Amino acid sequence: MSEPTVHPNRIGGEERLGDDVRTVRNPSDLEEVVGRFARAGAADVADAVEAARAAAPAWGARPGPDRARILAAAAGELRERADELGTLLSREEGKTLAEGIGEFRRAAELFDYYAQEAYRPVGTLLDSARPGVGIEVRHAPIGVVGVITPWNFPVAIPAWKIAPALAYGNAVVFKPAEQAPASAWHLCDVLIRAGLPDGVLNLVIGSGREVGAAIAEHPGVDGVTFTGSTEIGRALAATVAGRLGKVQLELGGKNALVVLDDADLDVAVECAVQGAYGSTGQRCTASSRLIATRGVHDAFVEALAERLRSLRVGHALDPEVFYGPVASEAQLRQDLAYLEIGEAEGATALVRGGEIDAGRPGHYLSPTLFVGARPEMRIAQEEIFGPVATVLEAQDLDDALRIANDSPYGLVAAVATRSLAAAERFKREAEVGMTMVNLPTAGQEAHAPFGGAKASSYGPREQGRYAREFFTTARTAYVRAG
Ligand code: NAI
Ligand code: MG
Repeated sequence: MSEPTVHPNRIGGEERLGDDVRTVRNPSDLEEVVGRFARAGAADVADAVEAARAAAPAWGARPGPDRARILAAAAGELRERADELGTLLSREEGKTLAEGIGEFRRAAELFDYYAQEAYRPVGTLLDSARPGVGIEVRHAPIGVVGVITPWNFPVAIPAWKIAPALAYGNAVVFKPAEQAPASAWHLCDVLIRAGLPDGVLNLVIGSGREVGAAIAEHPGVDGVTFTGSTEIGRALAATVAGRLGKVQLELGGKNALVVLDDADLDVAVECAVQGAYGSTGQRCTASSRLIATRGVHDAFVEALAERLRSLRVGHALDPEVFYGPVASEAQLRQDLAYLEIGEAEGATALVRGGEIDAGRPGHYLSPTLFVGARPEMRIAQEEIFGPVATVLEAQDLDDALRIANDSPYGLVAAVATRSLAAAERFKREAEVGMTMVNLPTAGQEAHAPFGGAKASSYGPREQGRYAREFFTTARTAYVRAG
């Protein structure tokens, strides 16, 4: 398939070029242009909402199995083209090729899952207390859904929002992250060609401040689902709730991996390497706090540092690299700033990361491991979103839980232990939405509910059947026969 010179926005069945274009470059090689994308503005959002409102009733009225055929066809094409599109994803975002391909496969899986979901029951029946009367509860679409997504999972996050939105009968206005719109553009292209009627899925690529804000403010958008930073999410929720719209947020994390004295050390180190440094640490589920109890602390830190020193960082398409470049200049600056903050706070960088020369002009950053840190330090409290982890020493499980819970966030927490009793306590007492036992904090599956506690999430859970809560509304009907 030939790539358009400028990728247009998709509004109501039209391909629309704006008067502004953004060029996206490969973070592994800044000399390489990944694509050029038309930038939408607030007026385009108004048109997209109008198109979505016009399309929503007919789409919502279609039988689920009929909607399912289109989602399943899209899943098929996403799977078939996973190598090609996954390569594009790695080129625009900088994650490894295996991860880029894996992410497109995940998107296919999500569309398959929600295609099936469109065949399942759409409600429940209740007996009335009155003879001859029945009560029906139907999960009806909410109407028009605004989808606003970040750059770090440029196809998986859009897929896990758009697939349920469409499956449950909603029309969508979608704004991907400007830094990585290529995967999102192809996702929409595949879905539209699979047979979505005009206006059911609208793509508006543009800035958060203009296009994102216009979606949040528009009274024609019945609900907004957002993934990104806590700061932006909080303001967006206030805007949407202020006009009584429905809102769902998935935000940051400062996730803890707790390593107890009885842990299998190899498992613990592997969980830390994968969880904290995989995807260049740019995951909301990254375990950027490593809490080790006294008896294992030194051995854990030593073994982890050893692994980190031999970790290969480089071009995302090089099959030998463990992680690729940082996704953007802004993110690189943020990561580097935190290295200085950590040192100024008095923590020790046992492994000190820095910009590295990987042969091509890119945002390459080697891993950092801070030790000797205290829980109140900024590097132990704030989301860095890079290949940086901070080790905190704990006395025992009680102390480790206290430290783990001393966070404004609560997305996911992991424990490495051989004790069933300790794992049970951890599952119950970690103040998070998801726990992992002897597994990295990252690696959630598409059919299980995803989301967190405290400042990590707001509104109903995403993924699996739980997605129905946000993307539908209950309509209760009382019926007397005759
Ligand atoms: P962000 O929160 O600014 O962007 C996320 C999405 O929201 C993007 O599509 C953006 O264009 C949009 N947006 C920005 N301002 C908006 C506004 N006023 N109204 C509506 N939409 C708006 O995140 P950004 O700047 O990409 O990353 C900054 C930090 O956020 C990262 O360093 C990281 O700490 C955190 N983050 C967390 C993510 C997660 O998965 N939880 C994902 C991305 C970022
Ligand atoms: Mg931002």
